[in-house]
Amino acid sequence: MRKKIIVGNWKMNKTHREGMEMLVHFLKLLDLELSLNEDSGKEFPEIVVAPPYLIVADSAVLAQGWDIKIAAQNCSSEKEGAFTGEISASMLKAAKVDYVIIGHSERRNYFGETNQLVANKINRALESNLIAICCVGETLQERESGKQFQIITRQIQECLFHLNNDQLSKIVIAYEPVWAIGTGKNATPEQAQEIHKYIRSVISGKYGKEISENISILYGGSCNPQNAKSIFSQPDVDGGLIGGASLNARDFIDVVKAIL
Ligand code: PGA
Repeated sequence: MRKKIIVGNWKMNKTHREGMEMLVHFLKLLDLELSLNEDSGKEFPEIVVAPPYLIVADSAVLAQGWDIKIAAQNCSSEKEGAFTGEISASMLKAAKVDYVIIGHSERRNYFGETNQLVANKINRALESNLIAICCVGETLQERESGKQFQIITRQIQECLFHLNNDQLSKIVIAYEPVWAIGTGKNATPEQAQEIHKYIRSVISGKYGKEISENISILYGGSCNPQNAKSIFSQPDVDGGLIGGASLNARDFIDVVKAIL
């Protein structure tokens, strides 16, 4: 059965000290408010925190003994060598990172990442036994011209369709409409459900129904404690990739609670 997953993407926010303080605060709230739920029979989500690189390794040390996982926000498309400024998937694995976000729209828009580059990064992540969170989503212009299905199909084909069944089972997909990211304008639950169901059908067309039913598809884009419950209650929405609302421990806990 597919997992429910909530990922907090801090983006380029928080110094080491600020980040560690917030994580400690978050873990205390988690202990106080959610530990009982683990025995309640309700499906408890996988909670993943994606801090900036400089905080990743210490976050992973802190996370040990807790029921949370650490993600990186990016990794290199290369294995190792003379690639100044890059961080490899194997370095992340050695730092006890479990997940890596790949192809976020900010990487695509501001750093020119193409579907081909995203596919290469996914390969590196899988070689290092990281779970790759592959981000897809259309811009406002693409949605307004009715191209969202076409764009998302292409992103999935070019980023993921070279993988075999086994490799695809290590992938999480995040649907993040670009017009909803950081804008305060979330997709409606119906809009999210429509695309998530569509993504599942695209996966099913290539890998079969069983695999498509088992892949977790997260929604991202202005998801917050107020709107999370209605979005997470959609049948094909398996959790969220949370930006702004993950920067505050209280808000992030409330988003996690919204999926219970
Ligand atoms: P947001 O960001 O929640 O701040 O809109 C989501 C994301 O980019 O992952």
